[in-house]
Amino acid sequence: MTKPLYQSLPKAELHMHIEGSFEPELMFEIAARNGINLPYKSITDLKNLYDFNNLQEFLDIYYQGVSVLQTEQDFYDLTWAYLLRAQADHIVHTEIFFDPQSHTDRGIDFDTVINGLYRALMDGESQLGISFGIIACFLRHLPEQAAFDIYPDIVRHKDKIIGIGLDSSELGHPPEKYQRIFAQAKKDGFKLVAHAGEEGPADYIWQAINLLEVDRIDHGNRCLDDAELVKTIVAKNLALTVCPLSNLKLKVVADLKNHPVRTMLQQGIRVTINSDDPAYFGGYLNENFARLQTAIGLSDEEIKQLIHNSFTASFLPPDLIQKHLTRLQSSGHN
Ligand code: HPA
Ligand code: ZN
Repeated sequence: MTKPLYQSLPKAELHMHIEGSFEPELMFEIAARNGINLPYKSITDLKNLYDFNNLQEFLDIYYQGVSVLQTEQDFYDLTWAYLLRAQADHIVHTEIFFDPQSHTDRGIDFDTVINGLYRALMDGESQLGISFGIIACFLRHLPEQAAFDIYPDIVRHKDKIIGIGLDSSELGHPPEKYQRIFAQAKKDGFKLVAHAGEEGPADYIWQAINLLEVDRIDHGNRCLDDAELVKTIVAKNLALTVCPLSNLKLKVVADLKNHPVRTMLQQGIRVTINSDDPAYFGGYLNENFARLQTAIGLSDEEIKQLIHNSFTASFLPPDLIQKHLTRLQSSGHN
């Protein structure tokens, strides 16, 4: 049997929280070696909790999982495990998020986190051929001052960090709350992204565009509520990093059959497919394509467009984007 198209094509992933790739098996292993007692009897016990009604229910479990990560090696192992999955899915470039405040607030040194991530990603580049970018996200449920407090650490590692993002609980924490820190980060030359319109309204996407001046929107599903907003996103050629299995698990969509990705493509939006928190949402990147294809019958043309977009929307330099696009074409599929 020939491989499905989404499997055989090289791809980029642009929306994946490294802490959300923490598989229960590795979580238990790291907890044991760090002498930490997880509040779950078994892996099955933990997996039984992966039944979320909204973003917050997921985040509560996600931060609990994060709390076992302590040493540089823990962060290395977490990242390496993701890279092996990425390689199996034929990902050739990945831009990963991490949540520095979720670690420094527990007394873990910023350098411990970034050095573990970076060392694994560098090994992934040389041994697996996967290039990468690292995006440091501010936790939006915390005050803007907390973002300012961690920012000097991010700047200190500017050689390793390409961009700034905004994640965690969206409702009640609009992008405007972070306008000053994003303006500073823009001045300092960071790429900017923000989660917007996952649970929050279209207005949060407007704010991310107009007040934060983001280079990409993470999720952005709710843009379809506002025709003027869609027009603006298309005119600016802003990319959306959409996450189908996440949308299903967090009840952003009731059924993948209602997933808006086709509508987004038809409206001319530069949409990409991503796995978000694959250990929690039921699959890595190819599983997102597979389930979408089953649910809505993605055509070859649609798959090629989504994968093409994953490169053009990346933060790779233009010459490398072109190299990837040429490679896509020469794989005989474009
Ligand atoms: N949404 C918002 N914040 C997050 C997510 C998400 O899916 N995963 C980790 N932090
Ligand atoms: Zn996300």
